[in-house]
Amino acid sequence: MKTVKKAIIPAAGLGTRFLPATKAMPKEMLPIVDKPTIQYIVEEAIKSGIEDIIIVTGKGKRSIEDHFDYAPELEQNLLEKQKLEILEKVRQSSNVDIHYIRQKEPKGLGHAVWCARNFIGNEPFAVLLGDDIVQAETPSLRQLINEYEQTLSSVIGVQTVGDNETHRYGIVDPSQSNGRRYEVSNFVEKPAPGTAPSNLAIMGRYVFTPEIFKFLEEQEIGAGGEIQLTDAIQKLNTIQRVFAFDFEGKRYDVGEKLGFIQTSVEFALQHEDLKQPLLRFLSEIVENESVKVK
Ligand code: UTP
Repeated sequence: MKTVKKAIIPAAGLGTRFLPATKAMPKEMLPIVDKPTIQYIVEEAIKSGIEDIIIVTGKGKRSIEDHFDYAPELEQNLLEKQKLEILEKVRQSSNVDIHYIRQKEPKGLGHAVWCARNFIGNEPFAVLLGDDIVQAETPSLRQLINEYEQTLSSVIGVQTVGDNETHRYGIVDPSQSNGRRYEVSNFVEKPAPGTAPSNLAIMGRYVFTPEIFKFLEEQEIGAGGEIQLTDAIQKLNTIQRVFAFDFEGKRYDVGEKLGFIQTSVEFALQHEDLKQPLLRFLSEIVENESVKVK
């Protein structure tokens, strides 16, 4: 059986929701506390058993490559100053290989995935998006790979969102469920408010059979004038079973400002040295604000 050893991380988008911060800096390099968001994603891929990662980059994304490269001068400096704990954080010690390919124009997520087709070849593969960070006992991608290994079919990670949020996501129309696994009759990209067939939203974790490339090849323009991955998934579902899997874990939406700030606070509270001072600071703010509200 071919198992899933390769992953694509698309990171060539314009990051318009974070402008002007993302004018000269990739949004994937924005840090949550002290780590760029893309590092959380790479770490999840490694913990899920991925051995080769290809990051799809674009204009102005050089710092992503530098981040995952060795930094001999910095390492030497930290060693000389005996800052060993920090040195450990800077060292790239895993066995995973990270490769890069450029998407010449940001034509959409479907196009970004298609750009990595030659790297993937005829194997099942994973896609992880940096907009969602997931904390889970079993990494969310690992959960999907486990499902792939049982079904030998493409598996799309989903979680439930509120009625007022469905228009922001790809939504699945489930036909049957078996525990957390759903058979799907339709995948719809960003349905208009009030028209979503369910509240199960696609969450930036996917395992695909290589047949998805046949449909990405068509380069059909979809919602927002972009080549949408969801449209290709919908077509793949007509020739093969594509499952949705409601993965376990807490998902953080770091692709938009409020979610990014909330995630930063929650992750900072998980750092022992930051927790108490941050809680004090937050309770002072809440007290002052509630005085004003009164
Ligand atoms: P998003 O739509 O969330 O990212 O795409 P974006 O386009 O950078 O953000 P906004 O909407 O302008 O604020 C989801 C993922 O797909 C990648 C993005 O980098 C992001 O990780 N993507 C999107 C590409 O790689 N290429 C594209 O053409 C579009």
